[in-house]
Amino acid sequence: MSTRETLSNNSKPLQGLGLIFLIGFMGSGKTTLGRKLASKMGYEFIDLDHKLEQQVELSIAEYFSFFGEDSFRKLESEILKKTTYPENAIISTGGGLPCFFDNMDWMKQNGKTVYIKLAPKTLADRLENGKEERPLLQEKHGEALVAFIEQKLAERESFYSQANIVADGLSLTADRLEQILNVKAT
Ligand code: S3P
Repeated sequence: MSTRETLSNNSKPLQGLGLIFLIGFMGSGKTTLGRKLASKMGYEFIDLDHKLEQQVELSIAEYFSFFGEDSFRKLESEILKKTTYPENAIISTGGGLPCFFDNMDWMKQNGKTVYIKLAPKTLADRLENGKEERPLLQEKHGEALVAFIEQKLAERESFYSQANIVADGLSLTADRLEQILNVKAT
């Protein structure tokens, strides 16, 4: 069954692009670009990290410190799969989400996945100032931060690269992303 048939429930043809999942490493711009893109396209924007925080009434950093990463991974997968989605939406996902359980397959079965790809050094520059809310990056600076990102990205690349669309994240804008989607996601 094709994605469109899955989403349209076989009765009503889909109007629009359906569910677009933005994936990629922390700092790749999923949330910022996703929010702008959704507003341009008139689609709902859903941030799965934010949904998780609302559900547990804790920040992600707090959740990690109280319950640990394994518990976080189970919960983020559950939220991915149990959220009620509208017909069309731009969905921003946590950087690790595609790499656990069958989350990547689930997203591909239920929509289109877009990997926003950036080099480790660029990610490190962007992340140097946004580490407090990201438990995996706390205490890492400079060269140690770059080395950590290089290693994690190498582990995750085989998941990220299964995306339907790989977009170069450098100077990527919402306009450009919309163009890419109109050509490749229809
Ligand atoms: C994580 C990325 C974060 C958040 C958590 C773990 C990761 O989301 O889900 O801190 O494993 O890469 P962002 O990619 O939105 O920062």
